[in-house]
Amino acid sequence: MQKNGSILVVDDEEIMREILETLLKGEGYAVRTAVSGEEGVELARNIPFDAAIVDVMMPGIDGMTTLESLKKLDDELAVIMVTAFASVENAINAMKRGAFDYITKPFKNDEVLVVIKNALERRRLVNENRTLRQNIQEQYSHFDNIVGRSPSMRRVFDLIIQAAPSRSTILIQGESGTGKELVARAVHMHSQRKERAFVTVNSGNLPPDLLESTLFGHVKGAFTGAVYPKKGLFDLADKGSIFLDEIGNIPLETQAKLLRVMQEREFMRLGGMEVIKVDVRIIAATNVDLRRMVDEGKFREDLYYRLHVITVQLPALRERKDDVPLLVQHFLEKYGVENSRPNLELAPEALDLLMDYDWPGNVRELENVIERATVLTSGSRIDAEMIPDNVRSSRRFQMPQFVVPPEGISYRDAEASFQRGLIESALEAAGGVQKRAAELLQIKPTTLNEMIKRHDIRPRRKKAPNGSASRAEDNDTEHETVA
Ligand SMILES: Nc1ncnc2c1ncn2[C@@H]1O[C@H](COP(=O)(O)OP(=O)(O)OP(=O)(O)O)[C@@H](O)[C@H]1O
Ligand SMILES: [Mg+2]
Repeated sequence: MQKNGSILVVDDEEIMREILETLLKGEGYAVRTAVSGEEGVELARNIPFDAAIVDVMMPGIDGMTTLESLKKLDDELAVIMVTAFASVENAINAMKRGAFDYITKPFKNDEVLVVIKNALERRRLVNENRTLRQNIQEQYSHFDNIVGRSPSMRRVFDLIIQAAPSRSTILIQGESGTGKELVARAVHMHSQRKERAFVTVNSGNLPPDLLESTLFGHVKGAFTGAVYPKKGLFDLADKGSIFLDEIGNIPLETQAKLLRVMQEREFMRLGGMEVIKVDVRIIAATNVDLRRMVDEGKFREDLYYRLHVITVQLPALRERKDDVPLLVQHFLEKYGVENSRPNLELAPEALDLLMDYDWPGNVRELENVIERATVLTSGSRIDAEMIPDNVRSSRRFQMPQFVVPPEGISYRDAEASFQRGLIESALEAAGGVQKRAAELLQIKPTTLNEMIKRHDIRPRRKKAPNGSASRAEDNDTEHETVA
């Protein structure tokens, strides 16, 4: 295939084929001709083309049918229909069926060349896009150091790639520990600003005055103690990106100043008169519902809309559990290297526990669990014992499977036995402490106590922490405290 692209010409008239072939070859395109739709489709079956020019009026299978067959072979092939002036309607019809464009006879050479150029350009874009996507979606389960191959994470990767090069403000939303900061850095690293500063502002940590002087700087004497003038982070981030973490924590007064920087790209230092121009890409993150804050009057509505140009929503880990094994692998490698413990493995039972857990602290929590286990494990395998109690004890509740026997069953008895089983497991999980068991079942301790009596549930033997069995009756004092 020549570098300029290859084109299929399908026309029953010899003179038309010659005109087009000469014209296109003259421009450096590779050209194959076919005298009929059948022949054209056959050629396309064997040779990949970038574009096809197809006459509408042909004996045998007509142009329309040829178009359809060609599109079946390659959905993205740009097919250009050639039609006599009288049948423009036909051509429009063809566009509806997926033709790229049409030209009417008699045509000017330039016209053909422009249409072909457009077609190949689009073809190139489609290909590029596809390669890009395939690279991210199939080859990699990572994007920079962001791990994930669930559809929701792939959408995040796509969005980063698309949005990074522009100057548009980006708002990253997600629960704590979902990777907002990682995404912010990735956006910066995939922009032309990557050589410049990436400045992080943790809006939550500072009292309002200090936050403003941190962001915008101050002049000498701006306030007591301002002995020296100081540049702000917006100065430092010029030509780079500024990451406003926890933007929901920014006080209303400061929000107004922030809005000004976003709108006018300029600001004044505290106590200063000089207007300073900056070129900064703003990336903001929040784990709170900003819309609700707007409704409560805690967040400026205009700033809210300014921030919502491009929004990246990071999924909670419990919404993408398929990624857990991948993340585990990632962190095993990371902490394995740090702790000189290469080739550490996770026992399948341990992974089961991790898969069952809901991860309220998201990826950060999982990372901590793996780090801890890596450090504490002595062998080459991390066993289930290495998984912290809070993770293992929260195995999700599974409703028992009910099978009604053919002879039927007493509803009352079944319900009572279900209640009984539930209470017994709650007591067991609570180590026999009724108050705790009531919490687990989200009922009042008095209610639980009544039910224990009604079902005549006796404290069961339970395992003491040191492994030896002890009588749960020892805990009777605990039972009684809540009765
Ligand atoms: N997809 C991921 N792949 C690998 N590591 C991740 C991923 N998401 C988060 N992490 C890791 O989890 C930790 C928390 O991530 P990060 O600080 O970006 O979260 P966050 O959303 O900013 O949390 P917070 O709201 O608490 O500030 C970091 O150590 C980060 O490297
Ligand atoms: Mg963060």
